[in-house]
Amino acid sequence: MIKAPTFGEFIMDRQAEFPFVTGQLTRLLTDIGVAAKIVNQQVNRAGLTNILGASGATNVQDEQQQKLDVFADDAFMRILSSGKSVCGIGSEERDGYVLCGDQGEGRSGKYIVLIDPLDGSSNIDVNVSIGTIFSIVRRVTPLGEPLQDQDFLQAGTAQVAAGYVLYGSSTMLVYTTGHGVHGFTFDPGVGEFFLSHPDMVFPERGATYSINDAVKAKSNQATQDFIDTCREAVDVGFRGRYIGSLVADFHRNLIHGGIYLYPSTSDKPEGKLRLLYECAPLAWLAEEAGGQALDDHGRILDRVPKSLHERTPYYVGNRHLIDALQTCRKALCGGGQGTGLT
Ligand code: AHG
Ligand code: MN
Ligand code: MN
Repeated sequence: MIKAPTFGEFIMDRQAEFPFVTGQLTRLLTDIGVAAKIVNQQVNRAGLTNILGASGATNVQDEQQQKLDVFADDAFMRILSSGKSVCGIGSEERDGYVLCGDQGEGRSGKYIVLIDPLDGSSNIDVNVSIGTIFSIVRRVTPLGEPLQDQDFLQAGTAQVAAGYVLYGSSTMLVYTTGHGVHGFTFDPGVGEFFLSHPDMVFPERGATYSINDAVKAKSNQATQDFIDTCREAVDVGFRGRYIGSLVADFHRNLIHGGIYLYPSTSDKPEGKLRLLYECAPLAWLAEEAGGQALDDHGRILDRVPKSLHERTPYYVGNRHLIDALQTCRKALCGGGQGTGLT
């Protein structure tokens, strides 16, 4: 029997893809795998330990923090800041940036990590899939100098690695460094992630649309027209699927084909999802896998964030489904005609 490479072996073998590597990125990705195992262990024992439920605190975005949100944030912070590769971390669960290194000034280490430590918090207590999303960029201020806002606020095109961990029916780690999207499945008996999904791409056609139905009525007209068109395509196999954990919805759509929408709405014109640590990393994975990701105006990866917790409307998935949404935006949509869906 041929053994599949572990995550650690795979990223080590691929290190040569990067010119002038020093091994810091490889080390950082290894650390993400270690932190993912620690979080995975807590997630799997969640019903047995005193880790379910609200922590009693709210985060900077006024959301109730769950105990697992706090645990996952602590685990990733601890592991990533104790390596030598990371100079700064921006987390959904923290107001400001965390600076790493000896004096906590972010002077050493080449990489910045942006992270949603626990995605899908509302699903924790009900045993439904949750995840972690991460994005890695290079610092722009020279080594040895204190970090500035611009180190953290970089466009998605500046990412050097991005990925997610899905704590689902099995636990998976999926990542890209711009050389394809690769998925690893955790074997709890061995305690390792093994390569199970090399070179992941969206299937050519997708027939799943994912949206919180309750926000549809308040969303922009193009989104409403597009969803109506999807519903009308039920006879040709279209279906609505929405888990409520972005990672899980994205992963399903990547494997089976589909589109995920969290639109701008009349009361939230900026949408709900966060650009830096939710939308941009998954947008890069989507593009690497042959798909597309947009906000209301253009490509997600081209957006330069103005703040750490900036939100954005988000539309991501198969190329032909995003094209169909674009057709609705150009007001050509009507009864499934002309969108290319059917
Ligand atoms: P988080 O748990 O990190 O705050 O993210 C929740 C996000 C995302 O995972 C999910 O797709 C979306 O919020 C669900 O929002 P609704 O409950 O409005 O559908
Ligand atoms: Mn999230
Ligand atoms: Mn979260």
